[in-house]
Amino acid sequence: MPLKILVRTGQPVKESADVVAVATYRTDGGGRKKPEKSPLDGFDRALGGALGKRMKADEFRGKKDQSLSIGTLGKVKADRLIVYGLGAAADVTDADVRAFAAKAARAANAEKAKRLVIGLPAGLEGKLRSVAEGLELGAYRFTKYLTGDRRPKAELAQVTVLLVGKPPADAKAAVEAGQAVATGVILSRDLSNTPPNDLYPETLADAARVMSKERGLKCQVFDFKEVQKRGMKLLEAVGQGSIRKPHFVHMSWTPANPKKRIVFVGKGITFDTGGISIKPAAGMGEMKHDMSGAANVVGLMAIVAALKPNVEVHGIFAAAENMPDGGAYRPGDIFGSLDGKTVEIVNTDAEGRLILADALAYARELKPDLLVDNATLTGACVVALGQTCSGWYSSNDETATEFAAAAKEAGETMWRMPLLEELKDQLKSDCADIKHTGDRWGGSISAALFLREFIGETKNWVHADIAGPAMSDRASGWVSKGGTGHAVLTFWKLVERAGV
Ligand code: BES
Ligand code: MN
Ligand code: ZN
Repeated sequence: MPLKILVRTGQPVKESADVVAVATYRTDGGGRKKPEKSPLDGFDRALGGALGKRMKADEFRGKKDQSLSIGTLGKVKADRLIVYGLGAAADVTDADVRAFAAKAARAANAEKAKRLVIGLPAGLEGKLRSVAEGLELGAYRFTKYLTGDRRPKAELAQVTVLLVGKPPADAKAAVEAGQAVATGVILSRDLSNTPPNDLYPETLADAARVMSKERGLKCQVFDFKEVQKRGMKLLEAVGQGSIRKPHFVHMSWTPANPKKRIVFVGKGITFDTGGISIKPAAGMGEMKHDMSGAANVVGLMAIVAALKPNVEVHGIFAAAENMPDGGAYRPGDIFGSLDGKTVEIVNTDAEGRLILADALAYARELKPDLLVDNATLTGACVVALGQTCSGWYSSNDETATEFAAAAKEAGETMWRMPLLEELKDQLKSDCADIKHTGDRWGGSISAALFLREFIGETKNWVHADIAGPAMSDRASGWVSKGGTGHAVLTFWKLVERAGV
């Protein structure tokens, strides 16, 4: 359930709440001169000087990512005060504000708080959307499978955001927009976290269908028969070792006079054992997140439906389960594809690029102004960039500039990678048109080069390899443990920049 978020003028020290969280700028010369009014006013005196003492002892200067938590022992109406540093006032970004609000909401949940008060310093009145996004994303927990004592005892329900001055006229709309964006990211996380015994190609397609129906989007679902009939032979091949048959989904939002047409594509491997080229046992359970690209597309379409941009947006994903079985595809097999090219299978664990190849060949027929795919595609990308950063590719510098700007505004860590032509030889096959994997070295790049073979005449294409940041082993900022929904914020920014 979404939080109840209220915005008004007020002084945090006077408010009753379970937790009050106050953001402050840097105070050691990095910030502006001391403002006339601060959301921290009155606390030190009310707490008998304890706050100032703690700040001194902790060397708290309001630097970015500094924080301090103090029990109020009944001296003010709130039980606990947490102070967060934002860094220099002039440098505070939307993402900084989102991270602050998320940390406050997560701390509130950890304190079993139901009511949270947030104090914002002057100058951030225009960032209420980011506050709302952060609150929802930070409060997120995946609790569907917990019972009895394991269920959370309390849940954050109400947040009051206090401003030093008057709330802006669009405060309510900004909060609602922020909550709509967060709801999309959360939908992506929920799908990503759902275990593979419950979430398989058919149920993932159902989730897209239900979301589309509730929100008035068009949604076509191709069942296995339709996948076969249409000639999506690579998708069929990857899924043939599982009793859970492949599905293909196409959601769309079409306003009357759209400025642009953007098509998003996702990898929906609901579980990746590696198939006959089976993965080692350690950590294999993480491969339940291997449909995060598809989940992102569903989450993004939920945002699109809520915020109704003046852009035509399509959300497409191919879904299959990669299992070893008597009927499974094998190394050495050759299959046709929706594109027409024949593909020699080298390693059945490189299944993602195969289902994406058919999805891209389908998507290109929509003649998009911009085609973006995203996938938990290669371990090599995680080796290259670490677990918090995704790698993205584009053969077009103009498209790349636009994508980089969207990622920067969204505050997601994404790094452009090169499509090195000299690696193309790795994909040459002796007996088919193309092989689907190359060497170990440059594995994320050769995967991207393989995908490029299936975009046809599309000029504006971006491929994002989200294998690292799609899942996280810890919470930080607005990022949750488990499925994260990484890239949804950037994708929504792309749509927004194209015309809202
Ligand atoms: N789903 C994996 C990639 C992955 C790895 C995602 C780690 C998230 C975390 C993908 O299907 C895969 O197995 N890729 C292989 C490709 C190789 C066989 C060419 C890989 O990266 O090892
Ligand atoms: Mn794999
Ligand atoms: Zn995979």
